[in-house]
Amino acid sequence: MNETRVSRGVAVSSLADVIAIDGPGASGKGTLASRLAAALGWHLLDSGALYRVVGLIAQRRGIDFDDAESVAEAARNADIAFKDSAGTLPDASPIRVFVGGIDETDAIRSAEVEQPASRVAAVPAVREALFVTQQSFRRPPGLVADGRDMGTVVFPDARLKIFLTASVEARAQRRFEQLKDREASGSLRAPSDSEHENPAGSLDAELRAIRASTEARDERDRTRPVSPLLPAPDAVTIDSTEMSIDDVMAAVMALVQERGLGR
Ligand code: CDP
Repeated sequence: MNETRVSRGVAVSSLADVIAIDGPGASGKGTLASRLAAALGWHLLDSGALYRVVGLIAQRRGIDFDDAESVAEAARNADIAFKDSAGTLPDASPIRVFVGGIDETDAIRSAEVEQPASRVAAVPAVREALFVTQQSFRRPPGLVADGRDMGTVVFPDARLKIFLTASVEARAQRRFEQLKDREASGSLRAPSDSEHENPAGSLDAELRAIRASTEARDERDRTRPVSPLLPAPDAVTIDSTEMSIDDVMAAVMALVQERGLGR
C-alpha cells in the first residue's frame, strides 16, 4: 500500500506534467481521473476529498460552516493521509482517505457531507490552507488532478485541461446509482429521509432530492467569489450526457496522445 502523507510547505517539482479534470458533481470526473492515472501510471489527486474532510470535521465538531476562522483552522490542522488500495467496486477510486489515522473514506463519500464540503469550500482561507497541500501531489512521472479549480487556480500550467460536464438529470441519475451501489456493497447506508427530504421513501422522490441537492451545490460552486467552478479558457469541454465512461476515456486518451503526454 502506497501512502501519501498530506504535507505542507514541501518542495514541489515543477517538472511533472499535470492533467487537470474539472467539472460539476457527478459528471464522471472521479472515474475518469482514476482510470487515466492508472493508464498513465501517474499520481492521482482527488481534491474534492480534501474539502470533504474539512466539511466532515466541521460537521462533527458542530462548527458553523460560515465561521471562516474556525473552518480554516480545522483545514490547517487536519491530519490527512491518502493511501492507495485496490478498489472494491468497479470504477471506484483506489484511494482510501485517513483522518487522524482513521479510515474515513466512506464517511466523506456519504450524502450528508456533500453540502458541508461545498459550504467550507467557499471560504477563501480554507482554499488557501489546502493550496500547497494540493500542489505537493505534483510529482514525477505526472499527476492527474480532479476538482473544480485544478486548471484555473491550482495547476494553471497543466498540459491538458478537461472540463467534464453532463446535464443535471444525467448527473443526478449517476449519483443515485453510485449511492445505491455503495449501499448494496455495505460501504454506505442510504441517505436518510431528512437528508434528502424523502418522506415517501420512493426511489422517485429520492432521485428528485438528489437532483435538488446537485443543483444547490452547482449553484454555490459556480457563484462563489473564490475559485468558482468555471472552465479554464484553454480547457477542452466534454459533455458526457450521452457518453459512456469508455467513450469519455477514449476521447481523453486521444488528446493525451495528441499532446505527447504519458508513456
Ligand atoms: O464527487 P463530487 O464531484 O460530487 O464532489 P467532490 O469533487 O468530492 O467535491 C465536493 C465539494 O468540494 C464540491 O461541491 C466543491 O464545493 C468542493 N471542491 C472545490 O471547491 N474545489 C475542488 N477543487 C474540489 C472540490
